Amino acid sequence: MSQTDAMPGQLRSRAWWDNTDNPEMTALYLERFLNYGLTSAELRSGRPIIGIAQTGNDLVPCNRHHLGLADRVKDGIRDGGGIPFEFPVHPLQETGKRPTAALDRNLAYLGLVEVLYGYPLDGVVLTTGCDKTTPACLMAAATVNLPAIVLSGGPMLNGYHNGMRTGSGLVIWQSKRLLASGEIDYDEYMARVTASAPSTGHCNTMGTALSMNSLAEALGMSLPGCAAIPAPYAERAQMAYDTGRRAVAVVREDLTPRKIMTRHAFENAIVVASAIAASTNAPIHVNAIARHVGVDLSNEDWQRVGRDIPVLVNLAPAGEFLGEDFHRAGGVPTVMRSLLAAGHLHGDAVTVSGRTVAANLEDAPTADPAVIRPLDDPVTPRGGLLVMSGNLFDSAIMKTSVITDGFRSRRPPSPDGSSVFEFRAIVFDGPEDYHARIEDPELDIDQDCMLVIRYTGPVGYPGSAEVVNMELPASLSRRGLTSLPALGDGRQSGTSDAPSILNASPEAAVGGNLAILRTGDRIRVDLDRARVDVLLPDEEISERMARHEPPALEHQTPWQEIYRATVGQLDSGGCLELAVSYQDLVHTKGIPRDSH
Ligand code: FES
Ligand code: MG
Repeated sequence: MSQTDAMPGQLRSRAWWDNTDNPEMTALYLERFLNYGLTSAELRSGRPIIGIAQTGNDLVPCNRHHLGLADRVKDGIRDGGGIPFEFPVHPLQETGKRPTAALDRNLAYLGLVEVLYGYPLDGVVLTTGCDKTTPACLMAAATVNLPAIVLSGGPMLNGYHNGMRTGSGLVIWQSKRLLASGEIDYDEYMARVTASAPSTGHCNTMGTALSMNSLAEALGMSLPGCAAIPAPYAERAQMAYDTGRRAVAVVREDLTPRKIMTRHAFENAIVVASAIAASTNAPIHVNAIARHVGVDLSNEDWQRVGRDIPVLVNLAPAGEFLGEDFHRAGGVPTVMRSLLAAGHLHGDAVTVSGRTVAANLEDAPTADPAVIRPLDDPVTPRGGLLVMSGNLFDSAIMKTSVITDGFRSRRPPSPDGSSVFEFRAIVFDGPEDYHARIEDPELDIDQDCMLVIRYTGPVGYPGSAEVVNMELPASLSRRGLTSLPALGDGRQSGTSDAPSILNASPEAAVGGNLAILRTGDRIRVDLDRARVDVLLPDEEISERMARHEPPALEHQTPWQEIYRATVGQLDSGGCLELAVSYQDLVHTKGIPRDSH
């Protein structure tokens, strides 16, 4: 076998275990793997080597139970005829990583690409859960195009406090308002927040974690029903076994990510994203996965394909229930079955089960209509995204499901058209500035204001922070207002229910016009035309831009500097731009050179 090409139909691990060009290297490749009890006969038996990309560890509590689940994955791999090799993925924990886990998504991606490409792996089980773990794993599998299958970790059990469901994240945003308005004290605030995390698992609301795992399933990258099984359930460990077993067959069938994650699969994911009221982070991550697998997908596709799909899943923050309820109601297959019946999905898309979407859904369970609503009685008639543009940015997104609450009900429609709203801008340079000044009476914030935050995008923060969902000044909460429209070049937590225009690209830090906005400027939002404009003449905008001195970027770590130099904008996935040209490594680059 040549050093750089695996023989067609042969396992790539044979380039390590049976290196015919350089037989003495075979001994070097084999010996160290034998030192804990594997045998040379075993490794050279022609059995696929299946990696387990382990995202769980003590720094990532949301995924920590994957450490135990990996035993069942290994049982499955062994019973399927493969040999498991578990290895760690750079920790990605959404709430614990400063300045943002978003900064590390591309780092974990980069590390995983090297591991998948540079070690004797024939396939991989991607353990996913917390927000960025799912996209990082799928982006890497896409670039390498190694046969891969996703094992989600599943949501935590439902949280309860005094008999009421407490959903991850959302309970924090809601209780902060009550704390600010004096309705609850700090002890009660802490009690509510901690009640929302009753077990192992990831966020139990339809935040970014459950959204991305549901979309991995909708893309066809996990076995049907995988996404919603709560982390501590027996079914979760059973799914781990089935996934490990199936991983071996996926290698034998050479069912690579590029055969599964096609344009049709991405369109299916967009439709499902609307129906589950997915996190506003989903388009960023899904667009990034698409770019790495060579599918040209944009926010316009999200609007075109997903905008008119109703929200069926009644989960917080858009609805009432939590992850356990979603699973009991049938999870993703039940949602997809009703979307397929209505002609919204490509039923012929191939999935990692080896069957098509339509075939997978034949035995989808029957829904609990309170949790997964029928198409003719949805939670919200339209669940997709509105893609906005204007003279402040080229692209930003807004959830159509929040428009009603956030805009229409608060402000009376303007006389010239029901979809046009004007606001007085209150501008903050990052969250520190926001916290320092939000209660400043000089700002005179009232219900006609829009809160704007900038320098919070990929380059500005760095990593892009979930800070666009800004709380009101306490004086307004006390008057019963729950939110003000917000605009920013950062992101919003997937567990937030705020009416925000977010992910504005290009961001202020790379010369986007948000940089020239001043407090007091008037901003017009036209929902029908999907425009957001500052009411200033073009000359004034150019003059301000000419005089504008962008704040210096301070890098605190080497990766921050590398990240800032290589990252794209949120509308195109916030990818490591130079990485996008690397496609299908297994087939375009062959096997890497020998190590010695
Ligand atoms: Fe990890 Fe939400 S913080 S899943
Ligand atoms: Mg978050």
